[in-house]
Amino acid sequence: MSGFVGGVIVSGASRGLGAALARRFAAPGVTLGLLARGEAGLHETAAACAARGATVRIAAVDVRDAEEVARTVLKWDAAVPTGLVVANAGIAAGRRPDGSAETAAEAASQVSVNLLGAIHLVGPLLPAIHARGAGRIGLVTSLAAFRGLPDSPGYSASKAGLWAWGEAIRADLAGTGAGVTLIAPGFFDSAMGDAWVGARPFSLSTEEAAARIERALRAGRASCVFPLPLAAGLRALALLPTPLADRAVRLLRFRIRP
Ligand SMILES: NC(=O)c1ccc[n+]([C@@H]2O[C@H](COP(=O)([O-])OP(=O)(O)OC[C@H]3O[C@@H](n4cnc5c(N)ncnc54)[C@H](OP(=O)(O)O)[C@@H]3O)[C@@H](O)[C@H]2O)c1
Repeated sequence: MSGFVGGVIVSGASRGLGAALARRFAAPGVTLGLLARGEAGLHETAAACAARGATVRIAAVDVRDAEEVARTVLKWDAAVPTGLVVANAGIAAGRRPDGSAETAAEAASQVSVNLLGAIHLVGPLLPAIHARGAGRIGLVTSLAAFRGLPDSPGYSASKAGLWAWGEAIRADLAGTGAGVTLIAPGFFDSAMGDAWVGARPFSLSTEEAAARIERALRAGRASCVFPLPLAAGLRALALLPTPLADRAVRLLRFRIRP
């Protein structure tokens, strides 16, 4: 199990899963870099991490701003080499409670934050991580990466794209000593989770989700997918004839409050 002494960067650390992960990696000898737009939430997470003995840097940055994100993470990496970077920042939209579908702009905006935002964060660090042959990259996708969900096409596309990007960089880094953990959670409680209207089978607390992800990152696992019954069900849809699979996935209807 790795202690990740050195630099740990987490995006979306102003609340929810990102804040919980930051607190879990906070320890003496660790220098955290916390990134999100909301300064108040970042300060709150930073205080909790500092109380655990970590040195903390924060940046109120939008992950859609490629240049600013690159400038921030490269500055942090030059000061303390990155041992772990977790691309966690994300947004979710979908069919509204009134039954209207997500707009094209909403779909594009999820791709901008969830997929491009993660690439903006991790991409600039890749050459250094590759050259050092050390460091772990965690990419927070979703079970929606495994099967497009009819009520949230943009979210599904953004997470499937991130999963594919992660597979590509994981294979590229193989054998260097550095590694990638692809993270695909099911439901857990958070601001994002609260906006979901519909069944949430096997839902976890944010802390339980963070604990599972922390274990996978420290153990250097290639992936961290939970809960397994839901993941297996969505994966199995690929084995069905298309009309049947499409009918089955329509059983998973839900709404998302804007
Ligand atoms: N909750 C679930 O059931 C669930 C299930 C599967 C996967 N996930 C994934 O888990 C991750 C964390 O979700 P969560 O449930 O903890 O959500 P959350 O409580 O809504 O937190 C999302 C975080 O992302 C940050 N963020 C959003 N847009 C950003 C932007 N443009 N630039 C920088 N930061 C941004 C937010 O900070 P600011 O608003 O302050 O910028 C916040 O810190 C997401 O990638 C999500 O897709 C969640």
